[in-house]
Amino acid sequence: MAISSEGKFAYPTGRAGAEALGYDPVFINEASPSLLQSFCGVGNPFSLGEIQPGNTVLDIGSGAGFDLYVAGRLAGKTGRICGIDLTREMVERARKNLAESGMSDIEVSHISSEKIPFNANTFDIVISNGVINLSPCKQELFEEIFRVLKNGGKLQFADVVLEKELPDKLSNSPEAWSQ
Ligand SMILES: C[S@@+](CC[C@H](N)C(=O)[O-])C[C@H]1O[C@@H](n2cnc3c(N)ncnc32)[C@H](O)[C@@H]1O
Repeated sequence: MAISSEGKFAYPTGRAGAEALGYDPVFINEASPSLLQSFCGVGNPFSLGEIQPGNTVLDIGSGAGFDLYVAGRLAGKTGRICGIDLTREMVERARKNLAESGMSDIEVSHISSEKIPFNANTFDIVISNGVINLSPCKQELFEEIFRVLKNGGKLQFADVVLEKELPDKLSNSPEAWSQ
């Protein structure tokens, strides 16, 4: 669980990570320190397309909530922003962080599988940041994402990819999987 973004990360996290990934400095400067502190995204889903006022947005694996906050700022009061996360503690952390930033209308739900707890055709945009690689059921997760996206909706996600096969000692190492 990401109690803190400090630790064994091979890339910048927290405020330094958001700055390195080109997030809007206005959002970085206006986010509460608690929202930024545990940010551990690997890319910037907002660089892949615009979020308009009034959009409905779902964040898969919303962690401590920084991307939910950015989506909320972009979609405004007429938008609807939802996050889901596999870890109950991260859901509680995101709710607390968002409430401290005056964004308690953002809905954050705990999920226990790749099933997404929303009706078909609900979202204009699905974002995700550093999460899909962690899923052991990627096919089911993508099917669920495309089920909840509206016709013409967009998936904007950032993730890590393997460029070559891992040596057995890494691919069979529980410790490496959990880092
Ligand atoms: C690397 S962190 C990224 C968190 C957040 N997206 C960010 O950018 O700070 C991964 C997050 O994904 C969650 N997670 C892992 N597998 C998941 C899954 N299959 N579905 C939803 N959330 C998942 C973890 O609990 C954790 O909060």
